Amino acid sequence: MKTIPLILMGCGGVGSQLLQHIVSCRSLHSSQGLCLRVVGVGDSKSLVVVDDLLNKGFDDSFLLELCRLKHGGESLSKLGDFGQCQVFVHPESEKKILEIASQLGTKTGLAFVDSTASSDTIVVLKQVVDLGCCVVMANKKPLTSTMEDFEKLMAYPRRIRHESTVGAGLPVIASLNRIISSGDPVHRIIGSLSGTLGYVMSEVEDGKPLSEVVRAAKSLGYTEPDPRDDLSGMDVARKALILARILGHRINMENIQIESLYPREMGPDVMTVEDFLGRGLSLLDKDIQERVEKAASNGNVLRYVCVIEGPRCEVGIQELPKNSPLGRLRGSDNVLEVYTRCYSDLPLVIQGAGAGNDTTAAGVLADIVDLQDLFP
Ligand SMILES: NC(=O)c1ccc[n+]([C@@H]2O[C@H](COP(=O)([O-])OP(=O)(O)OC[C@H]3O[C@@H](n4cnc5c(N)ncnc54)[C@H](OP(=O)(O)O)[C@@H]3O)[C@@H](O)[C@H]2O)c1
Ligand SMILES: *[C@@H]1O[C@H](CO)[C@@H](O)[C@H](O)[C@H]1NC(C)=O
Repeated sequence: MKTIPLILMGCGGVGSQLLQHIVSCRSLHSSQGLCLRVVGVGDSKSLVVVDDLLNKGFDDSFLLELCRLKHGGESLSKLGDFGQCQVFVHPESEKKILEIASQLGTKTGLAFVDSTASSDTIVVLKQVVDLGCCVVMANKKPLTSTMEDFEKLMAYPRRIRHESTVGAGLPVIASLNRIISSGDPVHRIIGSLSGTLGYVMSEVEDGKPLSEVVRAAKSLGYTEPDPRDDLSGMDVARKALILARILGHRINMENIQIESLYPREMGPDVMTVEDFLGRGLSLLDKDIQERVEKAASNGNVLRYVCVIEGPRCEVGIQELPKNSPLGRLRGSDNVLEVYTRCYSDLPLVIQGAGAGNDTTAAGVLADIVDLQDLFP
């Protein structure tokens, strides 16, 4: 039996779902000769570590209790009463993490799973990589800070996985890496990588006002609590930066041209969410409507996309042929068109749900399982 020990940083929507997947895949994995051993779990306040670190992981009832607690909004420190673990509070938890990484890293390939939404994990991730550990990320922040951090993390590419940073569980990174390693040059990537903006653009195409569509998207739970977090394009820009960097472009966030769907005067530091939804948003309806009509008169549709072509990396609204994979997109799916030498006239197309705890956690799990061949 091959064992992969792992430490999970962050157990919100994605992290908890990952633990549940691990538990429900036990018999599948053991039939494949694999055992995932969760030895530590951290949230924003504390870290719980299994008592008998070298020989055991948390048992499944402990992991499910952990998910139940986190789901109820509690802190991990409550698990102290449950036995089989020690609780550490920041900053002791960082020290403990490095200690575990040096004990288990080179020998076992201990995997650090980052399912936080924080940039605070970067420091620890860089250190554990040096100690021989593996890193699996759903969190985009470590790969979108400085180029120096990116290169440091990617210095051991076999030990670093981040499929779920772009398109959630969709095989975007895996496909690109295969294309890159086969020497097939990537000429252009164009993709709709925000479920929210995909939905918004296909709804306004039907003639609905932007304001109405965004309010509906919010009440359907498709948007962040403040929809401007989606409409700003920043999340798409982070994904674009990751794609551009794996294609070898040494660029930063500042090098990406980002079109926000709202003007600066309606930003979070000027307007409350309520004001934006009530008053601000309606002021944007006319402009979008005119753009939709102009595109339609050319037989085109508008999509909010990222475009990576040569050194150019842009995020914003583009007019695209109605009869193309992106033009046909309806609803909240992600769609990525990849043009290479082999896929030159007709692109390679990757499409499917690009968000959700379940698919994102599934992508993370597949990344972890993929690490097994690196260690004896
Ligand atoms: N959900 C999706 O559909 C999706 C899709 C693709 C990628 N992602 C990415 O996956 C990541 C997780 O998303 P989510 O929806 O699960 O977020 P979430 O529900 O907000 O969970 C974040 C978790 O990280 C913990 N945390 C915050 N700072 C931390 C720190 N410094 N050290 C350790 N833990 C820390 C939080 O602790 P507390 O519990 O104490 O607050 C929480 O448990 C994000 O980076 C997101 O962008 C999500
Ligand atoms: C993801 O999980 C979080 C926390 O459990 C939950 O609040 C949220 O509704 C879930 N999201 C989806 C789309 O199921």
